Amino acid sequence: MSKNFDVIVIGGGPGGYIAAIRAAQLGFSTACIDEWKNAKNGPAPGGTCTNVGCIPSKALLQSSEHFEHAGHAFADHGIEVKGLGLNLERMLGRKDTVVKQNNDGILYLFKKNKVTFFHGRGSFVKAGADGYEIKVAGATEESITGKHIVVATGSNPRALGNAPFDEKLILSNSGALSIDAVPKKLGVIGAGVIGLEMGSVWRRLGAEVSVLEALPTFLGAVDEQIAKEAHKLFVKQGLSISLGVKIGSITSGKKDVTVEYTDDKGAPQKAVFDKLIVSIGRVPNTIGLNAEGVGLQLDERGFVAVDADCKTNLPNVWAVGDVVRGPMLAHKAEEEGVAVAERIAGQHGHVNFNTIPWVIYTSPEIAWVGKTEQQLKAEGVAYKAGTFPFMANGRARALGDTSGMVKFLADAKSDEILGVHIVGPMASELISEAVVAMEFRASSEDIARICHAHPSLSEATKEAALAVDKRSLNF
Ligand code: FAD
Ligand code: NAI
Repeated sequence: MSKNFDVIVIGGGPGGYIAAIRAAQLGFSTACIDEWKNAKNGPAPGGTCTNVGCIPSKALLQSSEHFEHAGHAFADHGIEVKGLGLNLERMLGRKDTVVKQNNDGILYLFKKNKVTFFHGRGSFVKAGADGYEIKVAGATEESITGKHIVVATGSNPRALGNAPFDEKLILSNSGALSIDAVPKKLGVIGAGVIGLEMGSVWRRLGAEVSVLEALPTFLGAVDEQIAKEAHKLFVKQGLSISLGVKIGSITSGKKDVTVEYTDDKGAPQKAVFDKLIVSIGRVPNTIGLNAEGVGLQLDERGFVAVDADCKTNLPNVWAVGDVVRGPMLAHKAEEEGVAVAERIAGQHGHVNFNTIPWVIYTSPEIAWVGKTEQQLKAEGVAYKAGTFPFMANGRARALGDTSGMVKFLADAKSDEILGVHIVGPMASELISEAVVAMEFRASSEDIARICHAHPSLSEATKEAALAVDKRSLNF
């Protein structure tokens, strides 16, 4: 096997494995190195996303939603369930199977595309005439050389200074996906994406969930009207959300964790939890890469410093995904991976940061693309807004899920769509239409004039677009 490659990708998460596949498709001899191990110490490519992120969290969100529906929503449909029970071991086992199917899928794709896979840790050794020498430390140690290197080493959960993760009582996303018995009382620090998704899973399975958030506003990055609606719905479901708290001491006992904090009025509070999830953001991962050894520049926050094209300070060294600036999202990492492979081939890879969708997979889901109303106000942009509630949508009524709304924001003069925000059923799927529309710089009238299937949730999108011009038909 040749040890010299045109492209070596370090990291096999969505940024790395997609970059490797695209580079191979473009005719480059390509290697991908990934160190993630499965329970049997075998390779488990796919990174955070596949192993302890997007995929397992969505598997558990789905399972727990079925459980909640069977317990609370089926009766309404005339379906009587007697003796409903929870087999958590099986639920977690199914999640693990879904993860493994994705790991295996990536290994298959590497074979299909002739990407050489190395299982182990990749680190820079030195730059030479043939490119960069990379050491791979796995079951054995070997040295390979690449003309181009793509760093895609991802991110790790941020811990609280006084409460390191032990994954038994104080859990990161990894531990939160594998709790082996439903905790009676679950604490969550951080009401961000992970806190709300994982909090929802365990609440649906029976835990009493308390979320403690430092900021005084709920989901500050989300359109205010949408965030308010979501907050109301989550509280109604039974999530306890305390905003504006200041976390103090965190003490682990034998079987529980005590968190002392001050509430939004400054009053001291104390809570005892069976488990505590800490989800306060993630930090870039450059551990073991020997960035300093070759002079790869990091920024002040520890991200690999890159320009708009994902070029680092070193010639022919690129970086993509969570380890560089921008939103920590799998699809952003993938887009950067493709763009970098195409740039290496002399093509014009492009990532449009203005049309990257966000989705929070709670129930109802929250999804958005483009600007929020508060951003447009702050930027002094004149805009028109239109909203349409799912309550007035026939398909939502038939589904039995009428919570939430679709909201359009369009330029006051040109009518170009500036942002679309959804809280409601299947928001994750509905947002795609808005992304396509914004990518093609459509106006709200364009969407309003398109024929949408009836009955479908997407009619709420069309109606919200009509509402921009104050002429929705069904509300
Ligand atoms: P990663 O996926 O972190 O992959 C990096 C890989 O590189 C890892 O396999 C790591 O082991 C490997 N590696 C690191 N250093 C080395 C080295 N020196 N040598 C060899 N290998 C190395 N995003 C979404 O878009 N949608 C979601 O629904 C979603 N859900 C999430 C849920 C949770 C609980 C979490 C934690 C994250 C979620 N994310 C989601 C975020 C998403 O997982 C990340 O944005 C995405 O995984 C980033 O991809 P990446 O390729 O940059 O890095
Ligand atoms: P986050 O950035 O979404 O949320 C962290 C929250 O913790 C914020 O609200 C922040 O104000 C709060 N916080 C920070 N320090 C705190 C403290 N000391 N005390 C109390 N609260 C504190 O980060 P999270 O949830 O850890 O997720 C990390 C990233 O992973 C996300 O930003 C996202 O990029 C990605 N992700 C994406 C998902 C999706 O796309 N559906 C799902 C899960 C994660």
